[in-house]
Order: sequence, then C-alpha cells, then structure tokens
Amino acid sequence: MKTIAMVNFKGGVGKTTLAANMAVGMAELGKKVLLIDLDPQASLTFSFCSVDYWGHNLQENCTIKRWYDEHVYKDRDIPLEELWIDPERLVVSEMGVLKLIASHINMFEIDVELGGSLAGTTERQSQANFLRVLSRLRHSLGKIPPWRFDVAIIDCPPAFNIITQSAVVASDYYIIPTKADFLSTLGLETLVGHVDNLVARYNLYAANSSGQYEGISPQLAGVVFTMVSLRGGDVISTQRTYVDMVTVGKGLPAFASMVRENKTLFSDAPEYGVPVIIRSTHSQTHREVQDEMWVLVHEVMQKCRI
Ligand SMILES: Nc1ncnc2c1ncn2[C@@H]1O[C@H](COP(=O)(O)OP(=O)(O)O)[C@@H](O)[C@H]1O
Ligand SMILES: [Mg+2]
Repeated sequence: MKTIAMVNFKGGVGKTTLAANMAVGMAELGKKVLLIDLDPQASLTFSFCSVDYWGHNLQENCTIKRWYDEHVYKDRDIPLEELWIDPERLVVSEMGVLKLIASHINMFEIDVELGGSLAGTTERQSQANFLRVLSRLRHSLGKIPPWRFDVAIIDCPPAFNIITQSAVVASDYYIIPTKADFLSTLGLETLVGHVDNLVARYNLYAANSSGQYEGISPQLAGVVFTMVSLRGGDVISTQRTYVDMVTVGKGLPAFASMVRENKTLFSDAPEYGVPVIIRSTHSQTHREVQDEMWVLVHEVMQKCRI
C-alpha cells in the first residue's frame, strides 16, 4: 500500500477537494483506496457522509479521534479496520474499493494533547517520545494487510502541527496543492523545508533507537496548482508567473496537470456526495473539468507508483 499525504499549512487551497476526487477516480479505475480525514474541519468526511449520519453513527466511536484517544489516554492501538466505513451515498465501480476514516471536530484537542506528550525530562526521553508519537499512524497503517488497499490518501489540517507531521511520517509521498498566487506560493519553500527538517530529525532519532525505529523517506510527488484560470486552454499569464516561480525559480517538482477554477461545479460537490470527477453531467464545461481531473489522477498514480 502506498500512502499519500495532502499537505499545505494554508487552508482553502483545494487539498480536500483534490483528495476526494483523486480517491474516487482511483477507485473507479479499480484501485482499493483508503481515505483518512485528519482535519478537524472534517470537510472530507462531510463530502462523503451527511452531518446527521456522522452524528448518529460515527461521532462517538468511529472517527480517527477515537484512535488518537485510545493511544493518547490509554496507550492502546485500535486497528484502523474498526474505523473505516463505506461512504454513505457513493458507489464506485465494482472492481474498486473506497473506504473512509472520518474526522471529528474535536481533533483540535488531540493535537494539544500530542504536543504535551512530546516533552521529556532528558534528551533521550524526548527523542523516545518524539518517535513514539510521530510513528504511531505509520505503524497502524503498516498493520493493514497489504492486499487490503493499493493506496491510502490522508487529508491533513491546514497547519504543520503534530497531526500533519504524523501523516508526513506515515507517507511514501506527499502532494502540495496550492493556488497560483503570491500569498499561496510564498510559503511553499518553507513548507518543504519543514518537511525536510522533520524527516532529518526523525531519521536521526531513529538511528539512535537501537533498531527500534526505521528511517523514513517521504517524497514530494509534486505541487498541484488548483483553482487556476484558463484562457484558450492555457493558464492566464499572471498565474503562469507564479507557476514558473515555483517550478523554475524554486525548483520544486510540479504536476503538469492542474485543476481549473469553477465555483459552480466545485462548491456544490460536497452536497451531492459525489465528487465532480464522476458526477454525471450534460455540461460541456463539466466534461472538460472531468477530463482534466482524470489526467491528473493518472499523473498522480504514475508519480506515486500506484
Ligand atoms: N477548482 C476549484 N474551483 C473552485 N472552487 C474550488 C475548487 N477546488 C476547491 N474549491 C472550493 O474552495 C474551497 C476550499 O477548497 P478545499 O478543497 O476545502 O481546500 P482545503 O482543503 O485546502 O482547505 C471549498 O469551498 C471548495 O469547494
Ligand atoms: Mg481541507
């Protein structure tokens, strides 16, 4: 199973929308996909199940918060298998599988608890706590039998907090969705720097752990430009400047495919419970957006070896 984290400490850049469409696209292509929502805003969760369903069936015992609660308060691992559910309203092709581990609005508290549990009185203890807390998700994902899923896609909160860091530690690849504008592209190098520092620190501590922990090497699969405006099939020049700044200027890898801006199509998507990529349509524009999304899904699968 390959694990991909959707990461950006900026919100509103299309992480969740892309995660949902990628997951459904891959499942339609016959892949077995596990989606994990780590964001307290739970937008991914509510893209696949109603607030009512969540309140009645998931809130208490069947979200990722339960899994964190068990390990924060009881130092116990519950199998992720107990938590994944079928999306409420969506059916994917018979060949594929799509399961969702829902989030919880009180995930904010968990991050604070996790932060607290990192402290140690000695350097040795701090390193042990760091490895224990940050590796937990990785270990739980590692316990899922390899035949169960081809890919796990983790949607992260808009912060580089402990929860996001544990997702990065768990991942083989990470993808950075971003808008092509000044403020959105400004922090990308910093974000990649944070990931590199995290990986270096984890690997250093792992090397000191007498073989208890293995090193990690999450790769940046690429930056995905979202909500771009197209003119004549190409990105408008003001946005092209920012695309070039990221790819040529900063030398970050980027996906050739982009997601165009279309408020009508994307803003309605969660309510329908069926992401844009497979929602049936008679609109020419919608078909073009779907075609672009399919190209992106294939590019992700190729870059992440799924
Ligand atoms: N390509 C797009 N065009 C227009 N609106 C979009 C597009 N992608 C996402 N959106 C909308 O923008 C908002 C933020 O997107 P979201 O995926 O939730 O971002 P993030 O997860 O990074 O916070 C949502 O309301 C979503 O419906
Ligand atoms: Mg989101």
